[in-house]
Amino acid sequence: MQPTLAQAHQLDAADPLAGFRERFYIPEGVIYLDGNSLGLLSRDAEASLLRVLEEWKRLAVDGWTRAQPAWFETGERLGAAMAEVVGAEAEEVVVTGSTTVNLHHLVRTFYRPEGRRRVIVADRLNFPSDQYALEAIVAERGLDPAAVLRWVPSRDGRTIAEEDVEAALDEDVALLVLPSVYYVSGQLVDVARLTRAAHRVGALAGFDLCHSAGVLPHRLHEWEVDFAFWCTYKYLNAGPGATAALYVHRRHFGRRPALAGWWGVRKDRQFDMQSEFLPAPHAGAWQIGTVPMLSTAPLEGSLRLLREAGVDRVREKSLKQTEYLLALVDEHLGGCGFEIVTPREPQRRGGHVALAHPQAVRIAKALKAAGVVPDFRAPDVLRLAPSPLYTAYREIWEAVARLREIMMSEAWRGYPGERDAVA
Ligand SMILES: Cc1ncc(COP(=O)(O)O)c(C=O)c1O
Repeated sequence: MQPTLAQAHQLDAADPLAGFRERFYIPEGVIYLDGNSLGLLSRDAEASLLRVLEEWKRLAVDGWTRAQPAWFETGERLGAAMAEVVGAEAEEVVVTGSTTVNLHHLVRTFYRPEGRRRVIVADRLNFPSDQYALEAIVAERGLDPAAVLRWVPSRDGRTIAEEDVEAALDEDVALLVLPSVYYVSGQLVDVARLTRAAHRVGALAGFDLCHSAGVLPHRLHEWEVDFAFWCTYKYLNAGPGATAALYVHRRHFGRRPALAGWWGVRKDRQFDMQSEFLPAPHAGAWQIGTVPMLSTAPLEGSLRLLREAGVDRVREKSLKQTEYLLALVDEHLGGCGFEIVTPREPQRRGGHVALAHPQAVRIAKALKAAGVVPDFRAPDVLRLAPSPLYTAYREIWEAVARLREIMMSEAWRGYPGERDAVA
């Protein structure tokens, strides 16, 4: 069936999540398709942030214990709320740190090279920070990154085949570290299958969930994923640089966190100020220092909103929206030189659609000037991300119509080919 504007209006009218859009601040006059980079502010997130500011005004230092709820246990409390979103037990998730710091912390904790078993399997399509962290950790241990890091090759330079990951796993492997969804292509990998494959050879498996958390369901505990980490500023809409989250499977509780700090101490003993480190008996042990309340508070409201919507319904709408977007691209942008690099199969697709084009930098700028916010990822990819909590189907229609106009009129030629510093 050909995608039509009338169909977009019908889909909006029948959308069970349509009402959530009103709870967000949508930048005026803009179709925002960049929620996989920075999600929008909701009134719910604003309210929880304002409440904490108010508590700071009234209670000052007593906010740690007398705010309602007390600030002191924010990491654990929001971790428990987040657990449902990623399919974990309440004690297996904590809100803390940043994605990159949490990655360093977890890999440093779980990478225990022993005898032959010293290889880390990873890949070069993952976000650069993850690659830098793995290289730095290996080098700091005095090991040779070239010998220890086994990079799974990509057949097409865009995606990774699960079979190739499986082929890279053997008895020499200590750890597998991959993303759940690739930040450029939007490919979703089979986390359960790859975790099983790692476990079969006696390795542990950890995943970067930045591009899947909040937009699709996970079953981390049931899949026996060993550890995971993710940010909260994309589909979780907690704000620029908001505090991140991490997960540790229950069977690893009691392991000594590599970056010990006083915030990882058992809550009932933290203010004993003992020299002896008494780690919390759950994922809370992987906290390091004081929870940054102002960067964490918005997450409370945005998590409440997401849980009200339900991650399964969010995924259902996300798949429908990306399918509609793909159909529009097929219908209206054929012959414009775009290559769809996001896998078509629903079970291999994350939340965004990636279109490769040699002029992607200029097209992204032209599209932004035309009131549609996409983003560009080097060297040649335009990413379009409908965010199910606030993107309407009619906006997807309109975005593709404007993109078509830019391609037909060659308006993109009026924009420079250099990438902005942040784009
Ligand atoms: C997949 C992925 N991993 C890691 C990061 C780095 O996150 P942070 O800068 O919050 O540490 C990002 C940032 O966008 C990302 O997309």
